[in-house]
Amino acid sequence: MSDIRVLILGTGGMANAHAEAYAAMDGVEIVAGIDPHAERLKEFRARHSVPHGFQSVEDAIAWGEFDAVSNVTPDSVHYVTTLPFLAAGKHVLCEKPLAVSEADAAEMAAKATAAGVVNMVNLTYRNVPALNTAASMIAAGEIGAIRHFEAAYLQSWLTQPAWGEWSEQSQWLWRLSTAHGSNGVLGDIGVHIVDFATHAAGLEVADVSCRLTTFDKAPGGRIDEYVLDANDSFAMHMSLEGGATGVVHATRFASGHINDLSLRIFGTKGGLEVRFEQNESRLRACLEPDLMTARWHDVDCPPVRTNYQRFIDAIRDGGQVFPDFRRGAKLQRVLDLAVASDAQGGLNQRV
Ligand SMILES: NC(=O)c1ccc[n+]([C@@H]2O[C@H](COP(=O)([O-])OP(=O)(O)OC[C@H]3O[C@@H](n4cnc5c(N)ncnc54)[C@H](O)[C@@H]3O)[C@@H](O)[C@H]2O)c1
Repeated sequence: MSDIRVLILGTGGMANAHAEAYAAMDGVEIVAGIDPHAERLKEFRARHSVPHGFQSVEDAIAWGEFDAVSNVTPDSVHYVTTLPFLAAGKHVLCEKPLAVSEADAAEMAAKATAAGVVNMVNLTYRNVPALNTAASMIAAGEIGAIRHFEAAYLQSWLTQPAWGEWSEQSQWLWRLSTAHGSNGVLGDIGVHIVDFATHAAGLEVADVSCRLTTFDKAPGGRIDEYVLDANDSFAMHMSLEGGATGVVHATRFASGHINDLSLRIFGTKGGLEVRFEQNESRLRACLEPDLMTARWHDVDCPPVRTNYQRFIDAIRDGGQVFPDFRRGAKLQRVLDLAVASDAQGGLNQRV
């Protein structure tokens, strides 16, 4: 079987994770990169030994010698750069959030379906073994009917420079500015934690209310061309189909947590706790007969194939793979309604 030829679109920070993941797979070749930033593209190609480079989507499509695209551009660029590849019949793994509005995300989903290509959103935490084991246990009815949950995604890159100085680097500054297409912490990592909680529950969101907060971070609220107006923290209330109720929150000011996710979810027959902290995942459960003593135990979680591996599997096997663009559009609807809720002082919104 011939190699699957992958093109990396956008060669900034996260593109390195995509390139390393593909490089570790047999039968996959990274054939090209695209970035309008010539120096960044050159460095990326040298670092990952990528033979071809283009500065525009049009030039790469005119060349055409690739099967699949990993779209690792900034959020606001996903829509405009993905559509030409779908029209050209290329498979696309797109970074999250799929787009910056439900309308754009739904159009991407419809066009991907019509093109008959493999389409996937890189919701990275689907790679967490504990999340997948929790989802399987809940689907098997092990904790009964879901009643209550709390989910948190905690980062702190605005309080310490573990990932670089946010006030000096474009990769952090665009994430703080709505004019640069960012929907703040809600669009950046809110999409992950909403997916994390609802994927585990196996339930759709029924309604949502949300408050967004933006803190003062620089004199005059701007640094160079970046107006720092995107939200830094959010707190959301969410109901799921079937009536479960819960809270979901995220922040870039969680001093003491660099990149940690957690979910505690409770049903009529038991509770589960999923933690992903310092890149380690852990699942704990309290199930009958331990409910009377509230004794929790660790649950073994088998490894999972990563999004990158499952994307390539689906191209090889001709199947579809999840989370697909349709899932990305559903999540985007929740995010859009969260913004609408905040604009109305936290008013509840039906999904
Ligand atoms: N799944 C995850 O866990 C995860 C983690 C980090 C980032 N991300 C996502 O990855 C994406 C990129 O984030 P990043 O941190 O790498 O940002 P970045 O700013 O470091 O890199 C983005 C790159 O895209 C390039 N670019 C801009 N417009 C382009 C265009 N029209 N065509 C080609 N390239 C273009 C930029 O020049 C830059 O090099 C974002 O959507 C982000 O949300 C996902």
